Amino acid sequence: MTDSRIRPRERDAIVQSLRAGVVPRSGHQHIQVGRADEVLALVSDIQRIADGGSAVRFVIGEYGSGKTFFLQLVRAIALEKRLVTMHADLGPDRRLHATGGQARSLYAELTRNLATRSKPEGGALASIVERFVSQALAEARTSGGTPTTVIHDRLSQLSEMTGKYDFAEVVAAYWTGHDTGNEQLKSDAVRWLRGEFATRTDARRALGVRTIVDDANVYDQLKLLARFVRHAGYEGVLVGLDEMVNLYKLANTQARNSNYEQILRVLNDCLQGSAAHLGFIFGGTPEFLLDTRRGLYSYAALQSRLAENSFASNGLVDHSGPVLRLANLSPEDFYVLLTKLRHVYAAGDPAAYLLPEQGIEAFMQHCSSRIGDAYFRTPRNTITEFINLLAILDQNPGADWRRLVGEVSIPQDVNPDLLPLEGEPLEQKQEASTDSSPGFQGHTAEPDRPHQDGSLATFRL
Ligand SMILES: Nc1ncnc2c1ncn2[C@@H]1O[C@H](COP(=O)(O)OP(=O)(O)O)[C@@H](O)[C@H]1O
Ligand SMILES: [Mg+2]
Repeated sequence: MTDSRIRPRERDAIVQSLRAGVVPRSGHQHIQVGRADEVLALVSDIQRIADGGSAVRFVIGEYGSGKTFFLQLVRAIALEKRLVTMHADLGPDRRLHATGGQARSLYAELTRNLATRSKPEGGALASIVERFVSQALAEARTSGGTPTTVIHDRLSQLSEMTGKYDFAEVVAAYWTGHDTGNEQLKSDAVRWLRGEFATRTDARRALGVRTIVDDANVYDQLKLLARFVRHAGYEGVLVGLDEMVNLYKLANTQARNSNYEQILRVLNDCLQGSAAHLGFIFGGTPEFLLDTRRGLYSYAALQSRLAENSFASNGLVDHSGPVLRLANLSPEDFYVLLTKLRHVYAAGDPAAYLLPEQGIEAFMQHCSSRIGDAYFRTPRNTITEFINLLAILDQNPGADWRRLVGEVSIPQDVNPDLLPLEGEPLEQKQEASTDSSPGFQGHTAEPDRPHQDGSLATFRL
């Protein structure tokens, strides 16, 4: 175990998000257990993206196995390696392909969450465009050209591949705004790049361009963005798409297949090396991948490309294919995780541990007797209750852990995907755990797992 100290801000962020039942956005290294090989595989993907290549991974695991955690961990590594990251959860209103605005809305969510090392929380698109301009200005100074020529040179490389899209035009408009002190033009350009224009008429009026980011060109925009960020000094773009099971849940076969077709484009581009500086990491459950009626395997071209190495079974692994299986955490992993949580809670100071090893063991014993294997297989609620226990011990110095451990009640974490598929709007599905009894005093039953950007920013204990 590490005895490195943990910065108070980082400690608080980790504790608060885990207590709220969400995966932390940063500080993963302090609580990460296992996944060493998987991380290595993704580090090599990130390197390939930086070298001008592409990468695609399907991170497949049961509910609670740690997909979201893994995606966030990889995102943090990518930021360290100077990639730009974008991430979003798919949902009924966010898909890869749609005709009613749901693909544009996925794109808008991705750009809201667009992050760089210095803006890891997202909202970094405007500063990337600004960097593009300032880098071009710097080059113009050293090469003796005019800024406008340098910028148009760079943009012409982009427009070569844009075809009918106006990406380069819009960046040029940003430059004009910059050059002439027209803040409105600058912000309209950024709004366009974020996919926030809903109609072509508005876009024409504001920027003089004829197209907008719409349902039909989301993937092309991402490819352009990946090239663009290179001119702003970044290594490429990593796109993380979680909750892919939402595509499997689409009742309409045509709609589902159109989405799978987009995934096939991504996969083909990637396997053929025709996307540059761009990578995708998808998070999904086994049924999303394997179900032959509604999953990726229902789409023949995807099934053949994603078929797993038949030699990789009985404990043998192959991390070179696009599918990365995440096994559920084991009791041993979970024990290590709890010791790390204790360490983080104590801000890295072993003298401030609130619970001895025996206490951790007793906690696991207790959870096991209450909810069986679920305590480590779907550990979200168990983790929350462990933090709650530490909070009580922390604030009540006289309290005896032996007595408290026996009182912990753990609502079982139920996979919402197991609830019926059709006949009710997805948004109204409640996790079965929400109405279970609360654990400790002051802890109300948790709200539906908040995933959207900003949920952490507003959450306070
Ligand atoms: N490798 C890991 N190390 C530490 N904690 C993890 C790890 N994987 C998952 N967790 C924790 O377990 C819980 C469930 O993980 P999550 O990523 O939400 O699962 P999934 O997205 O597969 O449903 C979360 O609280 C997460 O922080
Ligand atoms: Mg998840």
